[in-house]
Amino acid sequence: MSVQEIHGIFQFADDFFPEEDGVNVFVLPDYVPKTVFPQWYLEEQDDPSSVFKARLDHLYYTGKYDEACELGHEHINIYCTGPLAWAMGRYLVRFAQIREDFRLDELRAICLTSPFWVAHFENDEEVRRVLSRAILIREIVELLAEGDSVDSLVACTRTLPTEYYEPYKTFAFRFVVDDYMRKICLEEQVALINKFSFMPLLGPVSMTDAKVTFSIHCDAVAGRNYLGRLIGPGSRDLIDRFNLKKRGYLGTTSMDSELSLVMCNLACVSSGNLVYDPFVGTGSLLCTSAFFGGFPIGSDIDGRQMRGSDGRSIQSNMRQYNVENRFIGGCVFDILQHPWRDGFLVDAILTDPPYGVRAGAKKIGCKYESPPSYSCRLSAEETAERYPKTIPYEMVDLAQDLHQFALKFLRIGGRLVYWYPMEINEDESRSTKDQLLSVLPKVDGIEIVSVIFQQCRLFDRWLVTFERTC
Ligand SMILES: C[S@@+](CC[C@H](N)C(=O)[O-])C[C@H]1O[C@@H](n2cnc3c(N)ncnc32)[C@H](O)[C@@H]1O
Repeated sequence: MSVQEIHGIFQFADDFFPEEDGVNVFVLPDYVPKTVFPQWYLEEQDDPSSVFKARLDHLYYTGKYDEACELGHEHINIYCTGPLAWAMGRYLVRFAQIREDFRLDELRAICLTSPFWVAHFENDEEVRRVLSRAILIREIVELLAEGDSVDSLVACTRTLPTEYYEPYKTFAFRFVVDDYMRKICLEEQVALINKFSFMPLLGPVSMTDAKVTFSIHCDAVAGRNYLGRLIGPGSRDLIDRFNLKKRGYLGTTSMDSELSLVMCNLACVSSGNLVYDPFVGTGSLLCTSAFFGGFPIGSDIDGRQMRGSDGRSIQSNMRQYNVENRFIGGCVFDILQHPWRDGFLVDAILTDPPYGVRAGAKKIGCKYESPPSYSCRLSAEETAERYPKTIPYEMVDLAQDLHQFALKFLRIGGRLVYWYPMEINEDESRSTKDQLLSVLPKVDGIEIVSVIFQQCRLFDRWLVTFERTC
C-alpha cells in the first residue's frame, strides 16, 4: 500500500494532539519546521468517497508510517493543527462576474454563486495549465490565509511561517484588493493593505513591475476574507481575440466568442483532436477549436454560409486567427445524408443546431406529393431526385439523429456538446431542467455530463454535454 491521497483535511485547535493509541502517522511538508507543526494524525477513513481527495506529492511522512502500511490502511484522514492551508496545495479561484451557471461545468471539464471557490491543485504549474484554458475564471491565487473578518485574516496570516516568504522575500511586490459586493474606497484599501506590513517582504513595492502579487479578497456576501499570492489570470482575453465585432466574416447566427470558447472547453478539445461541427454555418466553433489545437471539419446543408463572398469565408476567418493550417475543410450536405464512411471517428462534436427563431432546421425531403415540373427536360421523378426540396426538421428528431450520429462517429470518451432550444412555457415561466431531460434523447452509450441553462429573450436554450461511454 502506498499513501497517495488525503481524504479530508481538518483544522484543529492548536492544542489538539493525536490519540496515543491507534496508528499515528505524522506528515509534514518539507518546508514546515517540525517544531512549529508537529501534529499530523492519520487514521482509517470510513467513507472515502464522501470526502474530497488531494494528492500528497509534495509532503513527506514521518512517524509510524511503516506501522500504517503493515495494518494495510488504504485510506487516510489527515488532521492537522495550525494554518496549513497553503501547505496543502489550496488555491482560491476568482471567477469573472458573468455566466454564473456555466462556471462549475467549465472548471470540471478542464464553481457557485460566490465568485470564490477553494480548489485543490497539485502545484502552480497545474494551476497555470487550467488558467491557460479557463474562460470563466478571472484569476487563481495560492490561498495563504482566510478569516471571517479582516482581523481574523490578519491573525491567520501572522501564523504563516517565515519560510513561506523565502522565495519571494527580495522580489518587487505589490498588494491588490478585490472587493466583491462592497465597494472599498482607495483610502480603505491602503489601510487594509497596511495591516499586512508585518509580512517579511524586503523587495521594493512596484505596481507595474511586481514579480509577486499578494491579493486581499473580501467577499461581502459570504462574509469571508482571503489572502492569496497571484498565480495568474484566466484566459478571458481570448474573448476579445475572437470578438465577433472584429471578425472578418460573419453571419446572422455566428456564435458569440465567449460561448464558443466555453463550448470547446466543455468538449475537452485539445491538441490534435479531430473536431466536427455538422451545422457549421460561418464556422465560429471551428475557429476556437482550431485555436485550442484541434483540427476542425464543418458541414452544412447550405454551402453559401461556408463559402461566404468577396474573399470572406470560414477560410479567411481561419487565416485571421492564424490557424488556417489546422482547418481541414467544409462540406455541403444534409446531416441526414452524410458521406462519412463507417469507422470514421472524431474526438469531439460541437455544434449549434438550427432552430426556429434564428435559423429553422431543414432536412432534405420532398415537399410535394407529386414534384412540380421545371422548365427542363427532366421527368418529374428525376426532378424530385435531383432537386430535392427541404422540409422542416423538428428539434427532437434532430437531437435524436445527432445522438445516433455520435454513437457511430464519436470516439469512446469523446464529447458531444450542443445547444438545445426550448420554448418558454404558456404561462410565460421559463423551461425547467426536468422538461429538458424529458425531451433529450436517451441513447445507450451517449451519457449526459452536464446541462446549462441560458435565458434568451424569446426562448430558452440549454447547453448540453454528453460523452460517448461505449
Ligand atoms: C445556428 S446555425 C449555425 C451557426 C454557426 N454556429 C455559426 O457560428 O455561424 C445552423 C446551421 O445549420 C444549417 N442546417 C440546417 N439544417 C441542416 C441540416 N439538415 N444539415 C446540415 N446543416 C443544416 C443551417 O444552414 C445553418 O447554417
